[in-house]
Amino acid sequence: MQARGQLMIEHRLIERMLSVIKDILANIESKNNVDPAFVDIAVDFIRVYADRTHHGKEEDILFRELKNKPLSTDDRRVMNELIEEHVFGRQTTKALVDANTRYRNGDETALADIADKLLILVQFYPKHIEKEDKVFFPSSRTYFTDEEDQAMLAEFWEFDRKMIHEKYKSVVEELERRQ
Ligand SMILES: [Fe+2]
Ligand SMILES: [Fe+2]
Repeated sequence: MQARGQLMIEHRLIERMLSVIKDILANIESKNNVDPAFVDIAVDFIRVYADRTHHGKEEDILFRELKNKPLSTDDRRVMNELIEEHVFGRQTTKALVDANTRYRNGDETALADIADKLLILVQFYPKHIEKEDKVFFPSSRTYFTDEEDQAMLAEFWEFDRKMIHEKYKSVVEELERRQ
């Protein structure tokens, strides 16, 4: 498998989560309420899987390696767009968390903000994934030899190996803070 193969496998799971989020959105519209625990689970997926684990490999390994390559103007522009889109995703998720906290504390007006942020995520994310799958990954692959590509894939596995430990260390630390 090429390095981008792993990133594309992860895109498929992110798309499945986006489908679930669409169902949550439909429920918000029909029932005019949401279970904040569902939003927590969606946020955990976005932050730990889509952002830390997936964007982490893109930014800390693939984009890092590409910064040493003579990228065309177009490829460099697209890479910068992708980085900005990751930032936008983080900001939207933060706003979603804030709205969910308000909703949980009894602020009914926060429901519209939750729906708005979820809608932004389900509309923006598929375009980001398509840009990577169809445009950026194929063109960026041309800058790497097969050996370099396989070295990145090996680094991806090493990156992933640490994630479960990082995740549950943060869970314990969060609970310790609440004591
Ligand atoms: Fe990305
Ligand atoms: Fe991606």
